Amino acid sequence: MPSLRVLLSAEQIHSRICELGAQIDHDYPEGPVYLIAILKGACIFLSDLVREIDLDTSIDFIAVSSYGKGKQSSGQVRVLKDLDSSIEGLNVVLVEDILDTGLTLSYLIRVLQQRKPKTLHIAALLDKPSRRIKEVKAQYVGFTIPNEFVVGYGLDYAERYRNLKDVCVLSLPPE
Ligand code: IMP
Ligand code: MG
Repeated sequence: MPSLRVLLSAEQIHSRICELGAQIDHDYPEGPVYLIAILKGACIFLSDLVREIDLDTSIDFIAVSSYGKGKQSSGQVRVLKDLDSSIEGLNVVLVEDILDTGLTLSYLIRVLQQRKPKTLHIAALLDKPSRRIKEVKAQYVGFTIPNEFVVGYGLDYAERYRNLKDVCVLSLPPE
């Protein structure tokens, strides 16, 4: 049986997201900001984060595939669903659930920079720096976590567990 251990409670996540929202308000005194969530994992983080931002905001979504059904990154990134509109001249914050190897974000940053946003910053709820393959700088990081596979609060394992309120470490029995 898989087992789950709480790493970050819903309360911890909420209070950190309040801080991130305040930081974003402070960093864009002119506003507005255009938040882009990377589906599906970041949708819950985005929906909580956007409500802690007082600036004028718009939201959009992009979907990429980088992982198969399991825990390993294939390293291949593909856009499955693109943005609804142009980001040229906008202050964009790309919202991601977890920064792991950095392959997904470094690919997306390259794609989005070509569309000439005014600024492009990264907000990642979680960061696993020990796993990094591609250097990516995230301006807003919720929590730096050890190299463990986590689920909940939008993060999945084979599409399960996204609905957990806490971020939990998932342990699977050996195959
Ligand atoms: P990266 O390209 O390796 O940085 O991978 C980022 C993506 O991998 C995230 O958006 C997640 O979908 C997935 N991912 C990486 N680590 C985890 C984890 O611990 N749990 C669940 N998904 C993860
Ligand atoms: Mg995923």
